[in-house]
Amino acid sequence: TTTSPLKIAVIPGDGIGTEVMPYGVRCLEAAGKVFGIELSFETFDFASCDFYEKHGDMLPPDWKETLSGFDAIYFGAVGMPDRVPDDVSLWGSLLKFRREFDQYINLRPCRLLAGVKCPLAGRKPGDIDFWIVRENTEGEYSSIGGKIFEGTDRETVMQETVMTRTGVDRVLRYAFDLAQQRPRKKLTSATKSNGISITMPYWDARVREMAKGYPDVKVDKYHIDILTAHFVQHPDMFDVVVGSNLFGDILSDLGPACTGTIGIAPSGNINPDRAFPSLFEPVHGSAPDIAGRGVANPVGMIWAGQMLLQHFGFRDAADAVLGAIESVLARGDADVVTADMGGKGTTKSLGEAIEAEILAAK
Ligand code: NAI
Ligand code: MG
Repeated sequence: TTTSPLKIAVIPGDGIGTEVMPYGVRCLEAAGKVFGIELSFETFDFASCDFYEKHGDMLPPDWKETLSGFDAIYFGAVGMPDRVPDDVSLWGSLLKFRREFDQYINLRPCRLLAGVKCPLAGRKPGDIDFWIVRENTEGEYSSIGGKIFEGTDRETVMQETVMTRTGVDRVLRYAFDLAQQRPRKKLTSATKSNGISITMPYWDARVREMAKGYPDVKVDKYHIDILTAHFVQHPDMFDVVVGSNLFGDILSDLGPACTGTIGIAPSGNINPDRAFPSLFEPVHGSAPDIAGRGVANPVGMIWAGQMLLQHFGFRDAADAVLGAIESVLARGDADVVTADMGGKGTTKSLGEAIEAEILAAK
């Protein structure tokens, strides 16, 4: 259940995470102010390599109790591979949140914004506007398997795909609900039932079963190989695309890549049951190559905040934040937008321009 004020745990993390986060928070505060939404923020220094070097662990022992008291986690980025190995920093923080808070939906928008150069030829804003819903807890990413006869000619490794009815149905239900709320009401399922002959036909069967409850949603499915080609050649075909953990992982990088720079893409790791906080973050990492220079694009962080607002049903505020991002990028003022978008602006110039636009909404 959602509390008022909406309690948001702010975790900047490492590198550019700490640089873009302040503008993410300022834009959320601006939206809260304009639309009368009460938001409270508390910032934590854990899930960072600084914390690790001080305490020998990415998280304090009571992190789960601490974060459970929040409605949402607003997360920057974690990782400083020169100081802490990536498997330690990521598995010790972000992946624990996703797993222990049962964030079984990974949600990413693919939307071509005005002012963003599309890597696909001939596409204009409006042509690409869909969501990718990825199963985030089971499927191909299971820990069931093992190795035998290591170091011999019979060396054997196995890893099983796990699909549970609970796990498959809950991600499908989320995707169908999302499709039903959208004007096009269309759902595309990623499959590979011609090659993977047990789990994928099961997935298809659950899609057919779930579709019975959503007679107004148009459903189609494609094998993952041709689906990736359609993402590039016919991105206008899609409205909501749902996939297993592995297929969703691939699609959720490919989709946003078709709509521009990694600096603007957001994502949500969502527990729709609201039993635990959901986590909203930019897709990008800590970008050590540009960290410390104040030139990171803050749009991915701000857009992740927009997803947070949308998740809690603050539609007007969410629309205003996305509208602000779109109009600032569409203006494309070279002094405002960052280098990854062809400008010479800074995190501050772009972040503040979007904040000002939100404050002027309504
Ligand atoms: P990255 O996303 O940090 O950077 C990839 C490239 O994109 C770099 O050239 C970077 O400068 C650029 N870039 C990324 N975000 C940008 C932004 N907002 N504005 C302008 N340019 C931007 O990925 P990379 O380099 O593979 O990973 C760096 C560290 O981040 C690693 O420790 C990795 O494990 C971690 N990482 C963490 C993630 C998370 O916290 N969710 C996600 C991805 C990586
Ligand atoms: Mg990925």
